[in-house]
Amino acid sequence: MTPVLAVRELTIRFPNGAGVQDIDLDVAAGETVGLVGGSGAGKSTVARAVAGLVAPDRIDSGRIELDGADVLRARPRAARRLRHAVHLVFQDPYASLAPTLRVDAAVAEPLVIRRTCPDPRERAARVDAALDAVQLEPRHRRAHPHQLSGGQRQRVALARALVTRPRLLLADEPTQMLDASLRVEMVDLLDELAAGSGAAVVHITHDLALAARTCARLVVLRAGHVVESGPTDTLLARPAHPYTADLLAAARRLHTRRSP
Ligand SMILES: Nc1ncnc2c1ncn2[C@@H]1O[C@H](COP(=O)(O)OP(=O)(O)O)[C@@H](O)[C@H]1O
Ligand SMILES: [Mg+2]
Repeated sequence: MTPVLAVRELTIRFPNGAGVQDIDLDVAAGETVGLVGGSGAGKSTVARAVAGLVAPDRIDSGRIELDGADVLRARPRAARRLRHAVHLVFQDPYASLAPTLRVDAAVAEPLVIRRTCPDPRERAARVDAALDAVQLEPRHRRAHPHQLSGGQRQRVALARALVTRPRLLLADEPTQMLDASLRVEMVDLLDELAAGSGAAVVHITHDLALAARTCARLVVLRAGHVVESGPTDTLLARPAHPYTADLLAAARRLHTRRSP
């Protein structure tokens, strides 16, 4: 079956010499794949390139295919249409929500902008369904972002993604701003959403243990390169690269400290 996302030998160079080289990444419908690595590894750069947020002249070589269609070589309009199926959720749910919009309006916004759902009643129904899916209580739906907790805001950010019915959800450190106690909950929710909606999900994190919780496959990035990728069980049991072993040890220390 054609994967929803196929990245092939993607190389991106920034003028300062940074970037990513020869990145391969496959994600099937309903699957959550972990893109794991330390700060500066190139995780966000890959996600931003897939979402169309990296300038074309920075993309040196390689392919990005969405449902088999090559977005980098498609005409601009076709590329935009393909990328409508992609939604990026950032790590800071506060920064990604306009302070003046109430929750329901914020979730409706992507539909308004894309004019994909012109009927207000149908739009309201889809907003409700998205907020149901992320389990945000009805009493919070008329609130402004500052009245919500970090976890609630991240749910709103996810609902904004879901309302567009994405084929591909890129979640870039979605738990970074959350308390430790809420992180597992958010990761499990992401996984449920992938399974429930059939979307392909890329979970980006520096926390190997958190990714391992729900991702069947992991791709480990370091300094712009994939150092290792494969089934999570194999990576955990027999990390082939010392960097994976380091990440694993760091994750274990982190989680031992967190859970008494
Ligand atoms: N727009 C940009 N211009 C120049 N360098 C960048 C840009 N975006 C990212 N980088 C550099 O690319 C490398 C990878 O960054 P990033 O993808 O943000 O890593 P991560 O998300 O894994 O922390 C870093 O060295 C970063 O400084
Ligand atoms: Mg990043």
